[in-house]
Amino acid sequence: MTFRRTAGAEAAAASAWWQRGVIYQIYPRSFADASGDGVGDLRGITGRLAYLAWLGVDAVWISPIYLSPMADFGYDVTDHTAVDPLFGTLADFDALVSEAHRLRLRVLLDYVPNHTSIEHPWFAEARASRDSPRRDWYLWRDPAPDGGPPNNWRSVFGGPAWTLDPSSGQYYYHAYLPVQPDLNWRHPPVREAMLGVLRFWLARGVDGFRVDALRHLLKDPEWRDNPPNPNFRNGMSPYEALLPVYSTDLDDIHEPVAAMRTALREHGDPSDERLLLGELYVPIERLVRYYGRDGRGLQMPANMHLIATDWRPEAIAALVERYEAALPSGAWPNWVLGNHDRSRIATRVGQAQARVAAMLLLTLRGTPTLYYGDELGMTDVPIPPEQIRDPYARRVPDLGVGRDPQRTPMQWSAEAHAGFCPPDTEPWLPVSAGYKHLNVAGQQNDTDGMLTLYRRLLALRRESVALTAGSYETIRADDGILAYARMSGSQRMLVALNLTGTPRTVALSGRVRLSTQLDRQSESANGVLRLRSNEGAVLEPERSA
Ligand code: GLC
Repeated sequence: MTFRRTAGAEAAAASAWWQRGVIYQIYPRSFADASGDGVGDLRGITGRLAYLAWLGVDAVWISPIYLSPMADFGYDVTDHTAVDPLFGTLADFDALVSEAHRLRLRVLLDYVPNHTSIEHPWFAEARASRDSPRRDWYLWRDPAPDGGPPNNWRSVFGGPAWTLDPSSGQYYYHAYLPVQPDLNWRHPPVREAMLGVLRFWLARGVDGFRVDALRHLLKDPEWRDNPPNPNFRNGMSPYEALLPVYSTDLDDIHEPVAAMRTALREHGDPSDERLLLGELYVPIERLVRYYGRDGRGLQMPANMHLIATDWRPEAIAALVERYEAALPSGAWPNWVLGNHDRSRIATRVGQAQARVAAMLLLTLRGTPTLYYGDELGMTDVPIPPEQIRDPYARRVPDLGVGRDPQRTPMQWSAEAHAGFCPPDTEPWLPVSAGYKHLNVAGQQNDTDGMLTLYRRLLALRRESVALTAGSYETIRADDGILAYARMSGSQRMLVALNLTGTPRTVALSGRVRLSTQLDRQSESANGVLRLRSNEGAVLEPERSA
């Protein structure tokens, strides 16, 4: 089998912090509760930043902290420039940013441009009458001739994407919940107001944004029906019954994306140190279009494909190569293994393989995005029906799509509620039953634990120019083994991952820099590397090799 040297020959240009660095996602409700109300908050995060600096990440992305009725836990915004009292105050936010910067951590906010809460004053004005000067800030259509919704578009969270506003007799569009009406980004004042939100937070010192639900931003001006999805099967989310070709990922979306990027540049950022990372669930060939031409798009469209790829070497190598081949010249890759919307990696592949997954994520070419708690091996927590909080789970109860299991409190210690909140408080979601054995305090002293593995991987990545900036080349992808090389000039690292529960051998030579079992540091492989079940290793070829 021959493998093409895929990409990254020019990768030595990895000079921006977001290219060299690793991003850590915090779901603020679940990270640390300083106020004692059972919900995490900004002061809680600030108090734990030293942990993240110790771990060795470079930036935090904080899911929404804005004023919100919390129907979608902050992704339904009432004021994009105010902090919800549940999370604290603007002063708390400023304190968080300055402490983060003191620790050399960057801060990314979650920018929610596509929709607001139904309680946003803009929507109240817009719905007041058909003649309201704010009417066009949202998307209104007359009913179909039979009185039903204007077209067949569906909400991502189940049901029609249109809700009738009885007082004006028109429907409004919402890609998500009926209480999350979509903004009209074709209307210039909306664009100006939402770009102003970026400027507001840039002026407060944030280092960039994760852009929420970006593919939904523009809709077909003719409102055509979406075609049926020929691959739809029972058990899939009802949203997937149609192909959202007219409601998402339109060709002209790149224009507002370029306007966002310009807003960052104009904010005294010609060196592009402030990051736009876009949430995009689209095929790879469509994803890479979001880099835009001549650096006018996102620095990184988030690449979520690893989450949905079969855990087999052939499938993973094919994904990496397809992605590398699709990347435009100079575009920087991104990899995501988990987030607040998807089942945790340790649940998807199992605790033993989660170590291999960590090594994969932190040794691929491009910026890794970590999800809080994955560094401990946290798993999805079963949620009893009466404790379900996620609106998506409530709207399509039988599909098992609920997102609460991956949003449970961070496990800090073996104390009550895993140290997430005071002992006499009930956390907003149940803490994992296994927290006494799986928590930060315990794992900080455990030389073999998952946390130590993450920390060692992060340190190795930081010190190795081959791992941070080098090219990628598949060496082998069969029989349960994925092996690849990362190269930068004369520097080279080899990664060999056993994706199975039985031992394997790989024809590789070099000094073991790190094993997922953390125990082979002085070993060398001379033509044959033996991997135990569920083991991965990073090798550095001997200089003379
Ligand atoms: C994004 C968020 C998700 C949220 C949705 C609506 O997909 O990641 O959590 O529910 O947007 O804002």
